[in-house]
Amino acid sequence: MTKTPIIAPSLLSADFSILRDEIQAVERAGADWMHLDVMDGHYVPNLTFGPPVIKALRQHTAKTFDCHLMIERPDDYVPAFADAGADIITVHAEASKHLDRSLQLIRSLGRKAGVSLNPSTPENVLEYVLDKVDLVLVMSVNPGFGGQKFIPAMVDKVRRIRAMLGERPVHVEVDGGVDPVTAPRVCAAGADALVAGSAVFRGGNEDAYRANIAAIREAVAAAELETA
Ligand code: DX5
Ligand code: ZN
Repeated sequence: MTKTPIIAPSLLSADFSILRDEIQAVERAGADWMHLDVMDGHYVPNLTFGPPVIKALRQHTAKTFDCHLMIERPDDYVPAFADAGADIITVHAEASKHLDRSLQLIRSLGRKAGVSLNPSTPENVLEYVLDKVDLVLVMSVNPGFGGQKFIPAMVDKVRRIRAMLGERPVHVEVDGGVDPVTAPRVCAAGADALVAGSAVFRGGNEDAYRANIAAIREAVAAAELETA
């Protein structure tokens, strides 16, 4: 059986001066979700955008808004992101003082709850919240910037997380350095959702985005055929 991964382009690599056009172009080019990287300049050494920008974009696509909060004190802001139209709200395990509480808060607002782990964070922090998550976001670079190199040890981490989850219907999403070379490796290990920024937005126009997304999908499909 061929599984097609969910492709979630990271808007961090889009042209911020025309974000509406970019989300519409990448949607037409085959994106499944929109990955929105929120950075606060404290948890990560970079700043991006927050709820008002997400709310403004919400009117221009019906695609799932996959919001990756790289911020401290995430619980203080979760309601604002839910109100802005986020569908999935992912907090960093390292940034939440009470992860169980953060996840309950997200679900109580009718949103899907995600946990993200930095490359150095062991997966056992998930052990007691496995039934409270809808998505695990495995960072395969240190968060804060696009265009970094994939950390190969994250392939085994994906495999271990998928095993921990068992039959639970939880997405395992990989973020950082995902391209046609690394995507097949993380999908074979159990990832079903892929964030890709530079590998999708390079080229700077809709035709390029379409070709870039197709190249990732084809690489995953080809690798699956080989192992079938
Ligand atoms: C990094 C962000 C990523 C980033 C991925 O902190 O979470 O979503 O944009 O960019 P690429 O795909 O270029 O590594
Ligand atoms: Zn991200």
